[in-house]
Amino acid sequence: MSRRRQPWPWQRALVTGASAGIGRAMARQLAVANVDLVLVARSGDQLEALAAELQAGDSGPSVEVLVADLSTPEGVDAVAARVVADQDPVDLVVNNAGLGYEGPLVDQDPSEVAETIGVNVVALVRLTHAAVGAMAGRGRGQVMLVSSMASLQGMPMTAVYAATKAFITSLGEGLYEELKGTGVVVTTVLPGLTRTEFHERGRWDLERWPSVGWQDADEVAAEALRAAAKSRPEVVTGRLNRFFAVLTSKSPRGLRRSLIGWAARRR
Ligand SMILES: NC(=O)c1ccc[n+]([C@@H]2O[C@H](COP(=O)([O-])OP(=O)(O)OC[C@H]3O[C@@H](n4cnc5c(N)ncnc54)[C@H](OP(=O)(O)O)[C@@H]3O)[C@@H](O)[C@H]2O)c1
Repeated sequence: MSRRRQPWPWQRALVTGASAGIGRAMARQLAVANVDLVLVARSGDQLEALAAELQAGDSGPSVEVLVADLSTPEGVDAVAARVVADQDPVDLVVNNAGLGYEGPLVDQDPSEVAETIGVNVVALVRLTHAAVGAMAGRGRGQVMLVSSMASLQGMPMTAVYAATKAFITSLGEGLYEELKGTGVVVTTVLPGLTRTEFHERGRWDLERWPSVGWQDADEVAAEALRAAAKSRPEVVTGRLNRFFAVLTSKSPRGLRRSLIGWAARRR
């Protein structure tokens, strides 16, 4: 079996949330470069179809499908076990699976609040913990944390989602420094509005959000993988998002909070 050029520094990547959106785009881009894959999500049929697509021909990568619900302890255990496995070890873990519901907290279903925190925070921490332990033992490896521009600012109407993402950005920043010298790198990715299934799943009213500055999942995936391959601590994807990230960092927190609150009330 002839292997194609491999521009990425990884042999095998585990991607959570690989059945749709940004995770599926990352899986496709990694597969083109013949990085072997472990695809994780709940939708087994979609993962199997993607695996068949990526393995097409006799020179494609090897692709495993791992069906798991990351909002449950059993699902997280199954994925953590694969992350630490010594056989066919994984040297890139992409913590991408995530969700967020729009609406005032008082109107939200407690089970959906728990699901958001469970997938975005609890599962992500557990898989990151498992990955950095196994990778530090081997002296190399990489973890990607898919956060959001929403992590830079408290967000009315998506307050729980934004808070889970603030947790992720903070976690990634701390771990990047903590792991220096171990051979393990954590890269945090901050996409802005991206065309995927995310908003429909979370019942977002897109009339309330800007129509400019959107990215495609392929663009976000490419920027994220490039930043990770360069061992960057953090990447904000998209030029407009980078402009807003700088603006956010330079403006007084109270002013930002008031402006965002005012804008949310007007919408
Ligand atoms: N789209 C945006 O505008 C945007 C902006 C900033 C950040 N992000 C972040 O980017 C990441 C990917 O989102 P996306 O836009 O690609 O969304 P998406 O199209 O809705 O895809 C979400 C993925 O997560 C998986 N997932 C959701 N709940 C899961 C669970 N309980 N267990 C296992 N897998 C689960 C889904 O698979 P199954 O349903 O098959 O399980 C799917 O593969 C998320 O972390 C999101 O917060 C997105």
